[in-house]
Amino acid sequence: MSRMRVGSEDITDADILETVLSHFPDIVHSVDALGNIVFSNGKAQELLGYSREELLAMNISEIYADEVLDSVKAGFDSLKATGDISIAESLLKAKNGTRVAVEIRSFSIYDDNGDFARTISIMRDMRTIRKLQQSLIRSNRLTAIGEMAASVVHEITSPLTAILLSNDTVVQEMERIRSSETVDVGPMESASSDIRRASSSIQKLVEQLQNFSRGITEKYESVNIGSAVGDALFMTKSKVQACGVLVQNDIAEGPYPTYGSPNQLEQVFINLITNACDAMAGREERLLRLSIVPESRDGREFWRCTISDTGAGIAEEMREEVFESFVTTKQNGKGTGLGLSICRGIIKEHRGEITLESEVDKGTCFSILLRRA
Ligand SMILES: Nc1ncnc2c1ncn2[C@@H]1O[C@H](COP(=O)(O)OP(=O)(O)OP(=O)(O)O)[C@@H](O)[C@H]1O
Ligand SMILES: [Mg+2]
Repeated sequence: MSRMRVGSEDITDADILETVLSHFPDIVHSVDALGNIVFSNGKAQELLGYSREELLAMNISEIYADEVLDSVKAGFDSLKATGDISIAESLLKAKNGTRVAVEIRSFSIYDDNGDFARTISIMRDMRTIRKLQQSLIRSNRLTAIGEMAASVVHEITSPLTAILLSNDTVVQEMERIRSSETVDVGPMESASSDIRRASSSIQKLVEQLQNFSRGITEKYESVNIGSAVGDALFMTKSKVQACGVLVQNDIAEGPYPTYGSPNQLEQVFINLITNACDAMAGREERLLRLSIVPESRDGREFWRCTISDTGAGIAEEMREEVFESFVTTKQNGKGTGLGLSICRGIIKEHRGEITLESEVDKGTCFSILLRRA
């Protein structure tokens, strides 16, 4: 960068231009008719990782990602011919391989004879803006879902009450016919107790949603993690059966006490078991393993709960992303991509930790660390 001189009459327009360009927050570069870079500013060097000398020895095609080269060439030809300002999105490739999404404004300059001389392009790094846009879209969708959930909760309460009342009538009727001895009420009793258990779970969820929409925080109490896993297994029984999954429950009698919300912890395990079943559906080996073991860390006592499957696995680049809202690989209607982000939120509120290990085509193991009470 050139140093500004003090006497104002010494400062030329070229000086000012040079200073502006070297401080400019966007890449500015200029290219000749053959696509050779003939000018580049400091931001180009910073974002692309090349020195000024390296850039001045390069062709424009060398700084773009391979998949956009055709469109870059077409754009460059049209820019040379028409000279119109064009605004386009593209993808640069830095020296270390990093890909930089940019918005480009380009135009051409012509010599005194009207012949093409150079293009000038201003490129803005769009990565932060894109991330912000995505999280804004996500949070708008979450708000919309929140509003929808509030109305669903409202609609669910009456049919749920009807189911529970009808079930009570069935129980009373069974009491009456039990004395007749000709009818075996055993299967009916077990079905009816399943109905009660499942309906109560829905009732608890509804309550949770109502509390959430009213801004009431979840009530924490002493919870046995083993029971939360047991309840989750009960709630996912039909899913596990439908997917033909074998469950290996290595959780010993317990108890495994922690302090938290029984409903929320059950929800976490339901989400993880459901995901594991989905990942194993249609595969040859379908084994779901559950365990809880004690663990000490930094002088603190925890329980480590693991849910592992022999499913499709998660590719390395997706292992962090799956915890974000609306990230799903499931078909429309099969998944919303909210499960793991809710799990992470719940475990964070419990001051625990959720992590995963995975091998593509072998399986995945989710691990949850919760404080020992
Ligand atoms: N055990 C697993 N094995 C393989 N992939 C998994 C596993 N668990 C999650 N995934 C991947 O992570 C994605 C996100 O999971 P998440 O639970 O957040 O959403 P979802 O299951 O797709 O939808 P939702 O839970 O809202 O119904 C899944 O679509 C899947 O691609
Ligand atoms: Mg899920």
